[in-house]
Amino acid sequence: MPEQPVPEQDPIVTKSYAAHYVVAMVILMATLFWALWDEAFGQRPWKAFQSEWKDRYIAFLKTAKSKSAQSEKQVEQNSDYQQLEQAYEQAYKAAQPHRDELQKQITDLNAKIIAVQNVFTDRRAYANALTYEIETGTSASNKKSEQEDLAKYKAKKSTVEYPDGHREQYNFQQLEAKYNALKDERTKLSAELGDVLKPVTEASTKASQYISDHMVDLTPTQIDGLRKKTAEWDPKIQQINVADANIVDRCESCHMGAREPVKITSAVMTPKGQKKPDEYARAFVSHPEPELLKVHDPDKFGCSPCHQGNGRATTSVEKAHGNYEHWLWPLFPKQNVEAGCQTCHAADMVLATNETQFEVINEGKDLFRQKGCNGCHRYDGYDKEPEDLNSISQQLKQLETDKKDNTKQAADLMKQADAAQRMTKQSLCEWQIAKSMGACSSSIFSRTA
Ligand code: HEC
Ligand code: HEC
Ligand code: HEC
Ligand code: HEC
Repeated sequence: MPEQPVPEQDPIVTKSYAAHYVVAMVILMATLFWALWDEAFGQRPWKAFQSEWKDRYIAFLKTAKSKSAQSEKQVEQNSDYQQLEQAYEQAYKAAQPHRDELQKQITDLNAKIIAVQNVFTDRRAYANALTYEIETGTSASNKKSEQEDLAKYKAKKSTVEYPDGHREQYNFQQLEAKYNALKDERTKLSAELGDVLKPVTEASTKASQYISDHMVDLTPTQIDGLRKKTAEWDPKIQQINVADANIVDRCESCHMGAREPVKITSAVMTPKGQKKPDEYARAFVSHPEPELLKVHDPDKFGCSPCHQGNGRATTSVEKAHGNYEHWLWPLFPKQNVEAGCQTCHAADMVLATNETQFEVINEGKDLFRQKGCNGCHRYDGYDKEPEDLNSISQQLKQLETDKKDNTKQAADLMKQADAAQRMTKQSLCEWQIAKSMGACSSSIFSRTA
């Protein structure tokens, strides 16, 4: 083997790579630290939540303890509270005459509405039934006479007896107009009453808010217990696992306060010196509906069946709340939070606990019926009675049609049988005549006979 010539410019010998190595090493170290940081915190934002929680909750419990030592009486003796209480009494007195007047008007109006409603609902049901008949009936001549019936029915007058004893006569259109007018008036009066009562409720809310802000439900010993538990807390994933229902909800890894036994608002979780509650403070609030969580124990129901969101996700608030393109069930927005009840309570007409009327969903369900949406969008079990009536009347209709078909078919069969009998007699005669005429030798008979 001939010796390789040594190149004159051997880069290994002639050039220094120190700078390259330094750059590569810096990048390597940076990625290493980034990876370590990401592993420990980047992918686990809940750790930061829980460490904030520890500090803020302990601070809150400290002040809560001193407040809890005061009894409600002491809070009520406070001059700030007494001012609020006075303001409430003044507002109450100021509103009283107007309020009483409006309430009386509304009561009278309600009695009138019931009087009209009693007559109107009967007539409307009858008119609707006729309309339904016309829309679903088949024959055109029937339709015409039924339409005349409907017009006649609507023109007929009926008598409404008002609570004061006087009577009025209305045809259908007038009755409907009267009914709507009375209801509009009630809506107007109720709104007016709301306006009159507004300062009173505001003053009363302020006074009771003052008490709840300055009172704590727990005794100082219980609060000490909570403080101890919180101080000993090690950050870890908080998880609800309901295997049967395939629910894994880690929401409480961040929402640490959700099920705490004291009322926690975002205001009390805001660190001193900060004006507005930050993200942490907003996440640490106790659940606004503890009564509801008693009926739906999160250990059995989880959180996401009511709220939606991605229960398993913990790497960011967006992902946990399902607000990204790979999750089809994002958290219901605040104003729409009761939408979640529909998942399980679609068939219930009204939802309420001792503490809360769920007005948004109840109003929605009411509108859904009033506007006739359930005529086409049916739910199993929802508004069951009309549904049952409807299906039975459909069945009756079907049976009626079947009966007509069967009678017609029977008559047809009888006719056919008669005809067949006549035919056999006739063809027998014809055959005999033909035979006697010697026609039997014709090609037809010779082939078939
Ligand atoms: C990574 C931490 C984190 C996780 C996990 C998390 N949240 Fe939140 N959540 C927050 C923060 C922070 C806020 C306050 C944000 C704000 O007000 O903008 C919040 C606010 C909310 C609110 C109030 C929303 C509003 O519109 O006012 C609800 C309800 C809620 N979360 C439910 C859930 C549910 C249910 C889950 C589990 C499926 C969950 N969260 C998981 C951090 C988290
Ligand atoms: C039975 C249904 C239901 C379940 C289960 C439920 N919630 Fe809620 N949650 C509600 C309703 C309703 C509201 C809104 C109440 C209101 O605004 O008065 C609410 C409000 C909230 C809020 C907003 C608080 C605020 O002040 O803005 C948070 C945060 C929250 N829930 C977290 C949770 C977590 C965490 C769980 C699981 C441990 C959970 N919820 C389980 C029905 C439920
Ligand atoms: C995952 C299904 C589910 C969701 C979502 C759900 N519920 Fe329920 N709810 C139930 C079940 C099951 C019961 C019966 C619990 C029991 O009797 O122990 C119940 C009971 C109730 C009751 C008590 C009824 C009674 O007769 O005492 C009320 C009120 C109620 N739910 C309201 C709500 C509201 C309001 C929401 C939405 C914020 C909601 N529920 C969301 C399943 C659900
Ligand atoms: C005459 C029958 C009828 C009535 C009454 C009716 N709908 Fe519908 N609705 C439909 C049909 C048909 C569709 C389309 C379904 C489809 O495209 O798959 C629909 C679709 C919808 C959708 C979209 C559903 C989806 O999954 O995308 C909503 C929401 C809806 N209707 C709400 C209402 C509301 C609210 C009312 C009452 C104010 C109402 N509907 C009354 C027949 C009706």
